[in-house]
Amino acid sequence: MKYLLLTTAFAFTSLATGRAETPLMHASARGVLSLNGRWQVIVDPYDNGYVNYRLERFDAADKSAAGGKGGYFLDHKPADPSELVEYDFDRSPSLNVPGDWNSQSERLYYYEGTLWYRRQFDFAPRSADARQFLHFGGANYEADVYLNGTKLGRHVGGFTPFQFEVTGKLRAAGNSLVVRVNNQRHPEGVPGVNTDWWNYGGLTRDVTLLETPATYVRDYALQLQPGPEHHVRGSVQLAGPAKAQAVRIELPGLNIVVAAVADASGLATFEFSLPGAELWAPEHPRLYELVLTAGADRLSEMVGFRTIETRGSEILLNGRPLFLRGISLHEENPLRGGRATTAAEARLLLGWARDLGCNYVRLAHYPHNEYMARVADEMGILLWVEVPVYWTIQWDNPATYANAENQLTELITRDRNRASIIIWSMANETPILPARTAFLKKLAAHTRELDPTRLISAAMEVHADPMDPNTKIVEDPLAEVTDVVSFNQYIGWYVGVPDDCTKIHWVVPYNKPVIISEFGADALQGFHASRLTRFSEEFQADLYRQTLPMLEKIPQLRGMSPWILCDFRSPRRALPNIQDGWNRKGLIGENGTRKQAFFVLQEFYARKAAEADAR
Ligand code: GCU
Repeated sequence: MKYLLLTTAFAFTSLATGRAETPLMHASARGVLSLNGRWQVIVDPYDNGYVNYRLERFDAADKSAAGGKGGYFLDHKPADPSELVEYDFDRSPSLNVPGDWNSQSERLYYYEGTLWYRRQFDFAPRSADARQFLHFGGANYEADVYLNGTKLGRHVGGFTPFQFEVTGKLRAAGNSLVVRVNNQRHPEGVPGVNTDWWNYGGLTRDVTLLETPATYVRDYALQLQPGPEHHVRGSVQLAGPAKAQAVRIELPGLNIVVAAVADASGLATFEFSLPGAELWAPEHPRLYELVLTAGADRLSEMVGFRTIETRGSEILLNGRPLFLRGISLHEENPLRGGRATTAAEARLLLGWARDLGCNYVRLAHYPHNEYMARVADEMGILLWVEVPVYWTIQWDNPATYANAENQLTELITRDRNRASIIIWSMANETPILPARTAFLKKLAAHTRELDPTRLISAAMEVHADPMDPNTKIVEDPLAEVTDVVSFNQYIGWYVGVPDDCTKIHWVVPYNKPVIISEFGADALQGFHASRLTRFSEEFQADLYRQTLPMLEKIPQLRGMSPWILCDFRSPRRALPNIQDGWNRKGLIGENGTRKQAFFVLQEFYARKAAEADAR
């Protein structure tokens, strides 16, 4: 099956998410005012700013129900000095945005609830007909957004961007942006109530005011056609009052200029050839500047051209067989124990992966910030990305499915122009039940409709042959619709001991590429003992030494992303003086120090790289 490139599908989507949201645009190319920095905050564990004592929403459409008042926290100053004031942003503490609240305040370490943010700012539009949008890179888990006392809308989902048009709603001075963020877990949520990662709450990603001309480039797609001709088909979607107009597509580095015309719906399609283009690959992550012009709008991005496909059990990048030398990664900076939010932190983490010898990273278990894929494009690191359909989800709940589909749509819309991304993953360690399989097959179909140019997978589970515990079977109806068969296995940690690896026989009855999406063991960095002593570096290193040859016996093995690059915080990991709230499966400790197992895997990847070069 042949997949293409650069980017994207032709299925432009308008995101029917929270109220008043407008479709996402390529924010990093349009920011005019960063709203990052110190925001005043009010901790509101009983949601007093959101509901009255009868639990009626202050911002409900039917104002009469809640006495017609806006939330207490809408930053209004009482006209009458005798009025009771109990919440005052001006007298409240502040936190950094972007950033989770848990790692910024001891009091908020375990906090799960509502926290109100307030940012004041001045703004003068560039021109009378310009349009302004408030863009949030993400907020965990739900966000209600108010500007100058008026509700803009709401977003649910902790890891994907959202935005609201604010044209005509801004003041030259003294704008008040108030955001309610609540990170409480819900059984119907995505993820559900149980995860092996820290439930970091807050405005965890950049907040930016974007500006565009009245008619602007809302989205675009470029798709390299199969075959040696390097032929490209593409489309641009305009939004605004003057949709039917000329569109110019340029790749200055290749001396390519293409003219197209958008129809009444704002859609322009075009084709061109890419003679002499250097394809993007880990060894040479060639990026080209893409410039899209439509009337007064000009959008510029760096893009790479590559193909990704499967043929039988092979993964082919630009037509050549590939072995994915990977590692898994949470969106966390272990050196400060909080959500990673910046390009610098993306470089730190992906740099450590490159030092390990990786050409591939699994961004677990939710969409990471936008910098990760952009830095991976620059560094030449292939990516598996996923939505947090994790462990236990309400498979029968239509709202849960809609939430999962929306998060996936927002992820694909944001990142489908990133050459580094090759795999969209549907789920992690979910049970083989009819409702779950129907849920995930529907999600996979939606993904393929949005983006037929990339591979689809999911981290599935292993089952033991009831007649022989040493025979491990990977068999899942979901594998009928995935391009790659991926699974997590913990032989030697959760199942038996590392010495069992030599006895294992694998049954993976698919003529498809196999990726081991997880394996590993905990080790406290600096704790040394015999290889049989759990939580020692020696035990972890021995597990890697014994696991790698066991996995190489799988004939369809085409990659792996062991669990995990760095130790990470988890409320489920409590062993005193060993875990202390950290999952210790990292190859790098929370102090940035490499464990013995890091070097075991590094040596294995050096061999795999040499084998690939020799092919
Ligand atoms: C699971 C799960 C991870 C978890 C890991 C572990 O496979 O996918 O999220 O952290 O195992 O138990 O450490």
